[in-house]
Amino acid sequence: MASFPGSGHLLCLALLCACVAFAIDDASDEEEQWTRWAVLVAGSSGFWNYRHQADVCHAYQLLRKGGLKEDNIVVFMYDDLANNTHNPRPGVIINNPKGEDVYAGVPKDYVGKQVTTENLFAVLLGDKKAVKGGSGKVVNSKPNDRIFIYYSDHGGPGVLGMPNKPYLYAGDFIRVLKQKKESNGFKKMVIYVESCESGSIFDGLLPDNLNIYVTTASNATESSWGTYCPGKDPPPPPEYETCLGDLYSVAWMEDSEMHNLKKETISKQYKRVKKRTMNTKDRFSGSHVMEYGTKSLSSEKVYLYQGFDPHNSNASDDTPPRSLPPSEVVNQRDADLLFLWRMYERSDNTPDKKREILREITDTVNHRLHLDSTVDLIGNLIFGGPSVLRDVRPSGTPLVDDWDCLKSTVRIFEFHCGVLTQYGMKHMRAFANICNRGISKRAMERACVRACGIYTHASSKWSPSTHGYSA
Ligand SMILES: *[C@@H]1O[C@H](CO)[C@@H](O)[C@H](O)[C@H]1NC(C)=O
Ligand SMILES: *[C@@H]1O[C@H](CO)[C@@H](O)[C@H](O)[C@H]1NC(C)=O
Ligand SMILES: *[C@@H]1O[C@H](CO)[C@@H](O)[C@H](O)[C@H]1NC(C)=O
Repeated sequence: MASFPGSGHLLCLALLCACVAFAIDDASDEEEQWTRWAVLVAGSSGFWNYRHQADVCHAYQLLRKGGLKEDNIVVFMYDDLANNTHNPRPGVIINNPKGEDVYAGVPKDYVGKQVTTENLFAVLLGDKKAVKGGSGKVVNSKPNDRIFIYYSDHGGPGVLGMPNKPYLYAGDFIRVLKQKKESNGFKKMVIYVESCESGSIFDGLLPDNLNIYVTTASNATESSWGTYCPGKDPPPPPEYETCLGDLYSVAWMEDSEMHNLKKETISKQYKRVKKRTMNTKDRFSGSHVMEYGTKSLSSEKVYLYQGFDPHNSNASDDTPPRSLPPSEVVNQRDADLLFLWRMYERSDNTPDKKREILREITDTVNHRLHLDSTVDLIGNLIFGGPSVLRDVRPSGTPLVDDWDCLKSTVRIFEFHCGVLTQYGMKHMRAFANICNRGISKRAMERACVRACGIYTHASSKWSPSTHGYSA
């Protein structure tokens, strides 16, 4: 009675399943009945942000070499680099000091004014009618398809940058991902995000049952880092005054280029990228690469998302052939100042130009100081001290409970105190904490008026009426 008469059959069945699974895996090489999609987003503009668009162009080339079709890769980039007056190699973009062009052939799906959060969401949802301008290419994916999303930019707690306002808020992003899942728009999805505090986009927000696996350049409370920066090791070619890449981003791309992606698991790539992103010369730099969502998905092979380049078929699956030395990196938020200082030093023969650059540096630094001190002052006015604003919720808890409150708090601040800029995104946690403590809009408004005056910034260089509101 207590024996298991069926156990012999079960064993056979298990073996049979294993064989069938093996056969399917093999057959998938020949004719896959599903499609790989990719969405690549560079969320910034300007030559001092060169690295984000360079990362995205590089990712495009990598996926094409992996066999993804142009029709299935949607690219968002401002596209102001190739012909930029600062570009030492007109028409060329590089993402590595060795300098292979990654720009040629990148499709101009959404460029300039079309690079918006609204268009990104429409593209992800496959909603062609909602797209404004651009190529109209959308992720028209089917239930069995796999989607890869890669985003490179500035960010802050709960927010990712966009070259056109408003920025992308994590609450909205997660909602769109859920919507895509509910509409049966994919089988599995992998998302890689490079930005400061990128962990905060998913921590406590992305459920683990959507079949979405995410890695981020940094955890919820730290910066991410630019690499191949002038004056740092390794440096870009001498004619470049801007960083060529971002550490986490080049880490995953150079890893993919070095390995056989039919053998490498996503989990292995995560571990290698994590190691390199921490391996910096200065112990106060580098960041913790994090993973979120459906972690079991990381046992899949990378080629299911990034494709397979036959050139790498013989690549060893072992640790990188040469162990990379620690890199010298630059905080995302300081890369613009680094660029300006380099330009300043370079303009010795043109005193007018030198003065102009110095003015720009001074303006930028002053606005940063203004943002930092007014946020502290608002903390004093509302809570009797700034420490509440810095509270970090335990991991697994979302940054903010009410995203609409966060957005309206940001708008109130920007109306009275000027635009946050990519630097000021770091204060997003302060605004989130104001919301989490249930502070009313009127109280926030009063504190902003006292800290910044009623219209002080309405007509200044930093006015949201010229820059747009970031929320
Ligand atoms: C850059 O300049 C070339 C040559 O004038 C032109 O064909 C191309 O469209 C320009 N690219 C952009 C992004 O403006
Ligand atoms: C996040 O990064 C900060 C700064 O590097 C570090 O102090 C903290 O321990 C990290 N937290 C997690 C959960 O990795
Ligand atoms: C891989 O190795 C095989 C056997 O040595 C060789 O015939 C083939 O050309 C190699 N492929 C590449 C892309 O190097």
